[in-house]
Amino acid sequence: MSKDIKNPEQARPSNELDVVVLAAGKGTRLKSNTSKVLHPLFEKPLLGHVLGQLQGLPVHQVSVVVGHQHEAVTDFVNAQQVDVPFLCQTIHQSPQRGTGHAVQCVQAAGAIESEYVLVLSGDVPLIQPKTLQTLWEQHQSSGAAVTVLGAHMDEPTGYGRLIQDQDGERSQLRAIVEEKDATDAQRRVTLVNSGIYLFSWSVVAPLLQQLDANNAQGELYLTDVVGLAVEGGHAVGVSVLDEATHMQGVNRRQDLAQCHTVLNALTLERLQDGGVTIVDPTSTWIGPDVVIGSDTVIYPGCYLSGNVSIGSQCEIGPHAQFWGDVVLGDRVVVNQSVIRDSVIAHDVSIGPFAHLRNGVNVASHVRLGNFVEVKNTSIGTRTNAAHLSYLGDATIGDDVNMGAGSITANYDPVREQKHTTVIESGVKVGCNSVLVAPVKVQKDACVAAGSVITKDVEASALAITRARQSEIKGWVSRIKQAVQPVSS
Ligand code: UD1
Ligand code: MG
Repeated sequence: MSKDIKNPEQARPSNELDVVVLAAGKGTRLKSNTSKVLHPLFEKPLLGHVLGQLQGLPVHQVSVVVGHQHEAVTDFVNAQQVDVPFLCQTIHQSPQRGTGHAVQCVQAAGAIESEYVLVLSGDVPLIQPKTLQTLWEQHQSSGAAVTVLGAHMDEPTGYGRLIQDQDGERSQLRAIVEEKDATDAQRRVTLVNSGIYLFSWSVVAPLLQQLDANNAQGELYLTDVVGLAVEGGHAVGVSVLDEATHMQGVNRRQDLAQCHTVLNALTLERLQDGGVTIVDPTSTWIGPDVVIGSDTVIYPGCYLSGNVSIGSQCEIGPHAQFWGDVVLGDRVVVNQSVIRDSVIAHDVSIGPFAHLRNGVNVASHVRLGNFVEVKNTSIGTRTNAAHLSYLGDATIGDDVNMGAGSITANYDPVREQKHTTVIESGVKVGCNSVLVAPVKVQKDACVAAGSVITKDVEASALAITRARQSEIKGWVSRIKQAVQPVSS
């Protein structure tokens, strides 16, 4: 929600944090119609990753600065509110005059109520909660006015450089210089700015008013707060992050790819530590919200994204894709198949080349084999559809056999309506049958191969709709004789 309040100059709680997330920029270098912070990493927008970093911190409230595509970004922030225990609001920055101006907008809206303010960048998605915890603890114990999160990077191009004075053994942060404003000597500095800071607001708030746009980009740089604090005689510090890859910022498509690689590596390591075998980490892609039980094996070429939970002793892949909300029980085998938004119980075998989507619910000991597509369907225990079936909008009981090529015709293309099929327990549906919905096949009935079923079938009945077979005796010999070539 947007908030427009005036700053009450009241005592600021010192055991809590206000958080500012900078997310108003256009992301020009991505050359995209989508706001940079809404670009996804494993289907979750960058901004969602950033908000997820706050877990464990004593957050009082979060202000997300929005500008470019502010409606879409605000919608996303509002949708996140249900998942977090603190107020999450948006502050509109228009026009976008730089990162310093973005924080000035939060200040002007009176949206800072705590003494400590954590500033995060909406385009720095991989910072781990424990890193922010360390930054917060260091800031409190050092008593600094500003603590900057930084790291040494072998390839620092594009980042602001942390310029330090050497005081004997100690280095003292003096200023942050942007790449575009840096001298050659400053560009050789490998200690870079993550774009993440902890501020003591009573010191930083007045300094924000002193920012100017005398720089290569003509913007109000938040980074200039560091130099101003030093000039004012305030203590500033750096919290150095060992894992420089975690502070990868996203400015270009290449950075987005790099973030995917880093995030994937972090996830694979977590899963391996939890007892999961990843046969080939170089060809396996697993999103950060995926949980997998021990002794499950992930074969090469898998892409498992979304809110996925996989049990123990499963065999996934080669080449499986999971999307959305997917739950798998224990000992499930999924080979060369695509699963989206489905729940699968224990001891199920899926694939090769199966496609489950949009709300499939599979009970235990089911087999869904080659070229079987299942949509919005529930399937009972020990039921098989082993080859070449389409099961859509159906309720299928226990111990059902769907023969090869059997189809539920769920769509009425004239009225553009979907209809349901009910197949009760024990039913055997012969090969190449079509069940034209809405239709019900009752318990233990049989449908003969090649039948087109348009009416409900009684329990234990045989339904057969194909033409009766007839034979023309000797037909083949007569035809062959008739076409016999005349010998010369
Ligand atoms: C910024 C830092 C740089 C740091 C780098 C780390 C500045 C001046 N530079 O550079 O020192 O090394 O991040 O990734 O801060 N934004 C707004 N309003 C604006 C401009 C930007 O909200 O007017 C937001 C952007 O949406 C983005 C973040 O601020 O999420 C950073 O802006 P960006 O343009 O990406 O800055 P960098 O060039 O990466
Ligand atoms: Mg950036």
